[in-house]
Amino acid sequence: MKKWMTALMVAVMTAFFANTAYAAGWVLNQTGWWFATKDDGSAWLSDGWYWLDGNEDGIAECYYFDAEGYMLANTLTPDGYTVDADGAWTEMGQKQARPASEVPSYIEEEPQEEEPAGRVVDPTKPMVALTFDDGPYAKVGNQIMDCLAKYDAKVTFFVVGDRCASYQTEMKRMADEGHEIATHTYEHKYLDKLDAAQIREQIDKGVEAIVKYSGVTPALVRLPGGRKNDTVLANVAYPMIQWNIDTRDWETKNTEKTVRAVLDNVKDGDIVLMHELYASTGDAVEQIVPELIARGYQLVTVSEMAQARGVQLQAGQLYYSFRP
Ligand code: NI
Repeated sequence: MKKWMTALMVAVMTAFFANTAYAAGWVLNQTGWWFATKDDGSAWLSDGWYWLDGNEDGIAECYYFDAEGYMLANTLTPDGYTVDADGAWTEMGQKQARPASEVPSYIEEEPQEEEPAGRVVDPTKPMVALTFDDGPYAKVGNQIMDCLAKYDAKVTFFVVGDRCASYQTEMKRMADEGHEIATHTYEHKYLDKLDAAQIREQIDKGVEAIVKYSGVTPALVRLPGGRKNDTVLANVAYPMIQWNIDTRDWETKNTEKTVRAVLDNVKDGDIVLMHELYASTGDAVEQIVPELIARGYQLVTVSEMAQARGVQLQAGQLYYSFRP
């Protein structure tokens, strides 16, 4: 028995008595040696010759495993070659060996869990959730997303359901680039003017449109105009995301005023309301985003911010900010 085999046997027996899983590689049991190709021992080499680097000298040798997977030793193999006491192929007294570097690996790597796409929100650092309502609208939406992409910034788009079919490419881009897509209802009707069934229909159809055109299932609702009453609160089965910084960009349609509304007021945990429909808003984003990044803010989606702040969003509840 070679030194490496003795050492391995000790390791295997230790593992056995500790009742722990063995690693892929040589394994000894009561019947003999076998070679596990998976860490859990659920697959092994069998029925033929395999080059294995079992040797501490870096030389690989050829071993024969029978139909059940046990290494043959001190015998003839089915194809008429002899194997020595250590199981290695010998012919005319010469051991068949080759450099270990030429030997394939038979060990199957366990598939690694995919890391999420490299984006990490640091809950200890300040963050802001920019939100854009009333889209999709490709002209402004793409301008916003072009800017966000430069800074690895993510935002939330609250889209109107009956617009989604017209902007399918933009919807897919939102999803592909990791922005949050949430519903701003199907037709942007003020829900406080509707009855319970109409409210539910506006929400359900708004959700369906997002699923259909982006593949994403939205988790959040923004109420048109932020308008609500008891019927609304009782019939919207999603967290309702309000805001605490209102840029009034729809009213001013002024880039500088929109920029100032954010930069003069913003604090850690804020939810900023903007609209995807105005060129002035797209231009404002190109100033707001680099400045917020320069101030040390992470630009995150609403769901990311809630999670980072340890808030479990509840259906039927209103949220205005996640200030610490
Ligand atoms: Ni709106």
